[in-house]
This record gives sequence, structure tokens and C-alpha cells, in this order.
Amino acid sequence: MQRKNNIIVALDFDSAAEAFDLVDQLGSAAQFYKVGLQLLTAEGPAVVRKLVSAGKGVFLDLKLHEIPNSVAGAVAAAGALGASMVTVHASGGSAVLRAATEAARPYPGLSVLALTVITSMQDEDLTEIGLTVSVPEQVTRLAKLAVAAGCHGVVASAQEARLLRALLPHHMLIVTPGTQLETDAKNDQARVTTPLQAIRWGASHLVVGRAVARSPNPSGAYAAIKAQVDEAVL
Ligand code: C5P
Repeated sequence: MQRKNNIIVALDFDSAAEAFDLVDQLGSAAQFYKVGLQLLTAEGPAVVRKLVSAGKGVFLDLKLHEIPNSVAGAVAAAGALGASMVTVHASGGSAVLRAATEAARPYPGLSVLALTVITSMQDEDLTEIGLTVSVPEQVTRLAKLAVAAGCHGVVASAQEARLLRALLPHHMLIVTPGTQLETDAKNDQARVTTPLQAIRWGASHLVVGRAVARSPNPSGAYAAIKAQVDEAVL
């Protein structure tokens, strides 16, 4: 599971100035960044262009959930921008996922990642929207759709990564948010997974936001995460 640049730092800021302040602080150690809806809406695609021209990989977390034609257009736009990853909701169904993977074909550097069930949802939230299945069942179902539609990977929590690694083809990426260093302040120890555990459970990439960005020492926090990733892949 050794992959270069498998730590993705989330630039969850509302200004490009704050985002690039962090990018500058991390320097050459960090090569992969996530641009999500907040920064993209605030500052537009210029931030992506700037990261790409600085040689950084960009995970463009668009969380697309639209008709196939619109999803295809947005995926192609992400490819033209030079993004390395883009996200599409698998609950849009096979036609949407296939439209996304087709649109990405001219951009060999672009991976289409399927979102299964967002990590804030629990079984009762699925019941509320009319799905009488558990979260792991729904995650598995949607991940299989993503494989069949030719997606390059999925976004999944560490617990889901453990489930999916055994089910998905080996080449599928599993991008895992929601990990924290053990030393982070947290309220509920039992539900927090470390970067080490996430990689051991099958994540190919980690997304880390506040653990780095809100640390008094972002470079030190990044280095601590990198050390765990290196330990996991030894
Ligand atoms: O929690 P953190 O600041 O590391 O979050 C970084 C990114 O990971 C967020 O932009 C969010 O999209 C994603 N995330 C998630 N599920 C979680 C925590 C974070 O999808 N439980």
C-alpha cells in the first residue's frame, strides 16, 4: 500500500490567503491538498490553478450530485483545471457514475472518487430518507456500484475502509477522512481512529484538516502524521 503523497491536507478556509499561508508553512513536505466547497465558493478555481502550477496534487471535493450531463461537465472542468481527484455521490446511481468516469477519460491524471454515505449519517438518518438498511450495508451497495461504473476509488471512513478493502479490487483507492493524532484534543476517544490505524485498515490516502491546520505547529503535526503513515506501510 506504499503510495507517494498519500496525505491530503484539507484547505478548509474561506480565503486563499489563509490557505496559501498553510501551504507555504508546510513547504515541500506536503504535496497534496484538498479544495472543498468552502474555499472554492469563496475564491473560485484560481486557487486550484495556483496549487497545480506550484506542482501540488489537488483533490477537488465537489461532492457532485446532479444529472449525468451536468456531472460529466463538472468532471471535465475539474480535469481541465488539473485536479487529481474529484468526488461524485454514488447515490446518484450508475448512470451518473458512468457519466463521471467517461468524462474523466481524457484526463489520465484524474481519479473519480465515489462518495457512499456521508460520515455524519447514522442508521436512523437513512431510515428518515426512506432507506431501511444499515450504514455498512448501504456503503457496500454503493461501493459496488462505483466499481461497476469504473470509478477509481471511494471516500470512506476508516471503519468502512476496513470493510471495503476486503471487497474492492486491490487497485481501488480508498480515501479516508476523519482521522486524528492520538494527542489531539477530543471528546470521544473510542470513535477516533489514528492515521496509523486507517492505513492498516486499508486506506490508500488520508485527508487531514484541522489536525494540521489548527495545530500551533502545522509542520510538526504533518510530520507526526507522516511518521504514522510510514510506520503503517513498513
Ligand atoms: O476533521 P478534519 O478537519 O480533518 O476534516 C477534513 C475534511 O475531511 C473535511 O473537509 C471533511 O470533508 C472531511 N471529513 C469527513 N468526515 C469526517 C471528518 C472530516 O468527511 N468525519
